[in-house]
Amino acid sequence: MFSGIAGRYDLLNHVLSLNIDKSWRRRVRSELQAVLADPNAVVLDVACGTGDVSLELRRDAAATVIGTDFCRPMLIIAQEKSRGSIPYVEADAMKLSFADNTFDGVTIAFGLRNLADHAAGLRELKRVIKPGGRLCVLECSNPSIPGFSQVFKLYFETVVPRIGGLISGSRRAYTYLPDRVSRFPDKKILAAMMEEAGFAEVRFQSLTGGTAALHLGTKTI
Ligand SMILES: C[S@@+](CC[C@H](N)C(=O)[O-])C[C@H]1O[C@@H](n2cnc3c(N)ncnc32)[C@H](O)[C@@H]1O
Repeated sequence: MFSGIAGRYDLLNHVLSLNIDKSWRRRVRSELQAVLADPNAVVLDVACGTGDVSLELRRDAAATVIGTDFCRPMLIIAQEKSRGSIPYVEADAMKLSFADNTFDGVTIAFGLRNLADHAAGLRELKRVIKPGGRLCVLECSNPSIPGFSQVFKLYFETVVPRIGGLISGSRRAYTYLPDRVSRFPDKKILAAMMEEAGFAEVRFQSLTGGTAALHLGTKTI
């Protein structure tokens, strides 16, 4: 499914989010600023897709940034966009091809919801983070503001599949999107799941009226 939409993925992200996705990715970078400023640090962007988060992390960074995804057509686009400045590795996020305690920071943007088992996915992300390293999860979310929540639901469940289907040629992929988001744990539950997976100092920020959320945690041991 991801291979089929790779060519139109970036365009649709910007159209469907009214370009707001760019500010969410900048927020990820600002949360990892200290790690990114360290020339000895290595940051992994999991489920990197076409690499927009990887590129954002790499901007002005002293740290090394690596992207990983299991979808080759997405990675080919990511590679072209980074013009070789970012190494990309084809791997399943549920079974990453990296040793334990490798990364100073790990990001996963709009990726965790796609994993077959969210809790096992979080444990796998934790496995590759060094003690003291940080995890940053950016995900779509369901707003809870009365009124706005209903309007957003209508937009997400009817307009998104239509526009997404028309532009990408895969209505299925853009019906799958609201479906996955509706099944994804809400912000507080995801924070609890991160604690359960062994992350400390877990906190989250609601973005753009709660349509997205950024969760942060630190691996202690
Ligand atoms: C919605 S896209 C997000 C891409 C990118 N992170 C972004 O911010 O635009 C989801 C990505 O997750 C990847 N993905 C889904 N399941 C995966 C898995 N088990 N292992 C690795 N990548 C996966 C897909 O190939 C796709 O590129």
